[in-house]
Amino acid sequence: MTPEALRQQLEYYRDLGIKQIYRHMPIPNISNAIELPSLVPAGDTLDLIRADIGDCTRCRLCKTRNKIVFGDGNPNARLAFVGEGPGADEDEQGLPFVGRAGQLLTQMIEGTSAKEGIPLKRADVYICNVVKCRPPENRTPEPDEMEICGQFLFRQLSAIKPKAICALGSTAAKAILGGKDGVTKLRGKWHKWNDIPLMVTYHPSYLLRPYNQNAKRESWEDLKKVLHFVYD
Ligand code: URA
Repeated sequence: MTPEALRQQLEYYRDLGIKQIYRHMPIPNISNAIELPSLVPAGDTLDLIRADIGDCTRCRLCKTRNKIVFGDGNPNARLAFVGEGPGADEDEQGLPFVGRAGQLLTQMIEGTSAKEGIPLKRADVYICNVVKCRPPENRTPEPDEMEICGQFLFRQLSAIKPKAICALGSTAAKAILGGKDGVTKLRGKWHKWNDIPLMVTYHPSYLLRPYNQNAKRESWEDLKKVLHFVYD
């Protein structure tokens, strides 16, 4: 079997929710650990990833979505933001972060960089979500939905190779880092995903709620750290 055929088969298993496979016949004196080819195809691009997603029916979210929200921004961005999943406005327009939370995100990116003397516009970064289809009633995506769609997020991040990633909220942080800790524990510190520095901060929707002055101040601090790390 060629590495490409094996990759496709593993991808198929993963779409089915099978997370672990075992080598069938142990060979004496040889470790059972086999080195698997990367699930990110060589020469991967955002266009190829979008084509692979197609008119996706891999999970139940396809039944209620209007448009697939793949991602938006500079394919060569030095900074990528990852949210949770599309809301109503995003589902309607097919673009990430275009509703109220999106307007706040734009303001945070452009306002903070202007104050810090960094000439950066929203179009210079890349913005996407863990799941590409809107969960009904804006519920949190289910683990299997994130598992299935996560392969495309990881391919997007691998294709862009940003200098840093900013995970917006607990769902994005858990999906990318794989742990159980939420945003209050993870925020403000550098983590790593595949050798790429990753900062976790509050989701803009959370910042839109009243009485979150402290979280707002903290997220501005987190963003300043990210902007200076990437653009200084
Ligand atoms: N919230 C998200 O997590 N993503 C969007 O695209 C919009 C709102």
